[in-house]
Amino acid sequence: MLRAHILLLAGLCATLSSAVTIDMEGLPDTGLDTSTWVTGVAPPLEDLYELNDLQIAAKNTLKPSSYASYRTGALDEITYQANLEIWQYIKLNGFTFRDVSDLNLNTSILGYNFSLPFFIAPAANAGLANSTTAELSLVEAAGDAGMLYVPSISSTKSIEQIASASVSPDQVMFHQEYVWSNKTRLQDELTRIEAAGFKAIFLTVDNTGINGIRTRSIRFTGEETDPGHASTFDLKALAAVRNMTSLPIVPKGIKTWQDAKTCLDLGFEAIYVSNHGGRVLDGAPTSVEVLLDIRKNAPEVFEKMEVYADGGVRRANHVITLLALGARAVGLGRSAMFSNLYGKEGVARMIYLLQTELGTSMKLMGESDVSAINSSYINTKWVENRYFGFGSS
Ligand SMILES: Cc1cc2nc3c(=O)[nH]c(=O)nc-3n(C[C@H](O)[C@H](O)[C@H](O)COP(=O)(O)O)c2cc1C
Ligand SMILES: *[C@@H]1O[C@H](CO)[C@@H](O)[C@H](O)[C@H]1NC(C)=O
Ligand SMILES: *[C@@H]1O[C@H](CO)[C@@H](O)[C@H](O)[C@H]1NC(C)=O
Ligand SMILES: *[C@@H]1O[C@H](CO)[C@@H](O)[C@H](O)[C@H]1NC(C)=O
Ligand SMILES: *[C@@H]1O[C@H](CO)[C@@H](O)[C@H](O)[C@H]1NC(C)=O
Ligand SMILES: *[C@@H]1O[C@H](CO)[C@@H](O)[C@H](O)[C@H]1NC(C)=O
Ligand SMILES: *[C@@H]1O[C@H](CO)[C@@H](O)[C@H](O)[C@H]1NC(C)=O
Repeated sequence: MLRAHILLLAGLCATLSSAVTIDMEGLPDTGLDTSTWVTGVAPPLEDLYELNDLQIAAKNTLKPSSYASYRTGALDEITYQANLEIWQYIKLNGFTFRDVSDLNLNTSILGYNFSLPFFIAPAANAGLANSTTAELSLVEAAGDAGMLYVPSISSTKSIEQIASASVSPDQVMFHQEYVWSNKTRLQDELTRIEAAGFKAIFLTVDNTGINGIRTRSIRFTGEETDPGHASTFDLKALAAVRNMTSLPIVPKGIKTWQDAKTCLDLGFEAIYVSNHGGRVLDGAPTSVEVLLDIRKNAPEVFEKMEVYADGGVRRANHVITLLALGARAVGLGRSAMFSNLYGKEGVARMIYLLQTELGTSMKLMGESDVSAINSSYINTKWVENRYFGFGSS
């Protein structure tokens, strides 16, 4: 009898309480309060203060299958988690007695001037977060902020629709492409990308032939069908792709110093170090580790090529770390997709939050010029010891 009453009371409390319990996935606890949130309804954007908040808002609001599609990594998500955790092992050196009044975040990428050292990385299907605006809100928010956006070839909107959403004729965008086994398709898309005014190609080279097995997402969709990526993609095939466009090609998804060196030897202007947000080869190292490896084994790469990097960047301190290791610019994948839940305003807020953090951390470190961030600003010994082995230098 008493037991029945207690059960009834417990049931009543559960009904009256609107508290939404969201599994925060082990993200840093900075006090985000979701108790007033309603499942399926976007919480007020102004209550979100960091990029992880935008992820939790998306988790609360998107269809579970859509959230899984953005959020998923490959297999056990060891690389996905490593991307988020690597920052714990980096120390930032903050120098004092410096004049930091004149903040400059301007960065050139392949010779084009942008106002920020981070950019929106290619990510498929922006329409899952906002079916109306999809990629168009990413174009507009990036354009307003003077930052680079690199749409995916697997976008919801077409190459031409994305190009024509530019906020001004001066807005510069690059475009991602996959190495399709269908060469007619490859040539057609490269021609359309160039005709639409994109200034460079990020050629994704880390999932040629096959995609990673993204279990978290497959549970909703069933096994992925053949993506149609060429599995015959060797150096000869790479040369053939370079020959199909007059735009500069930047290989995206470099994960070893050897491949970085190969790209240098082949005369590429830039490479993009990435493990695809942990969505391809589970067990691949983080960009921090790959950049350290390139610094150790092929340091000339940083002198002769521009290097971009991404993976797990959620805070300005992560941007600073990658810049200090020699990256020129840093990509944001999931955060941009999650923020697009709110359309252009959401993406603009994401950019604003990261930009504010960046100016703040740089001033606290005694460096107001983003182009002057170098390895003197970080201590990576902990990572180096674990990656190269204790006792190595
Ligand atoms: C939902 C989603 C879709 C993606 N689609 C592509 C793609 O079409 N082409 C590509 O080169 N990379 C793609 N990526 C990888 C991103 O460009 C980027 O490397 C990665 O998301 C960076 O990690 P982050 O999400 O932790 O910021 C995708 C990533 C996500 C999360
Ligand atoms: C950054 O670039 C913008 C646009 O080119 C320019 O107006 C601004 O003065 C630059 N800022 C600094 C600090 O150089
Ligand atoms: C880019 O910025 C640099 C330095 O601020 C400037 O000299 C150059 O003219 C700018 N280039 C373009 C295309 O605006
Ligand atoms: C190859 O791509 C072209 C252009 O997109 C398309 O018309 C053709 O049907 C494709 N061929 C195959 C075999 O899928
Ligand atoms: C590049 O294209 C030209 C003209 O179409 C062709 O003659 C040449 O063999 C191609 N080179 C490669 C490496 O594919
Ligand atoms: C999509 O973005 C637009 C504007 O950028 C916004 O008004 C709208 O609320 C967003 N959400 C949906 C579901 O369309
Ligand atoms: C890094 O920049 C600082 C400050 O501009 C400079 O004094 C130092 O020599 C540079 N260090 C390296 C390793 O390049």
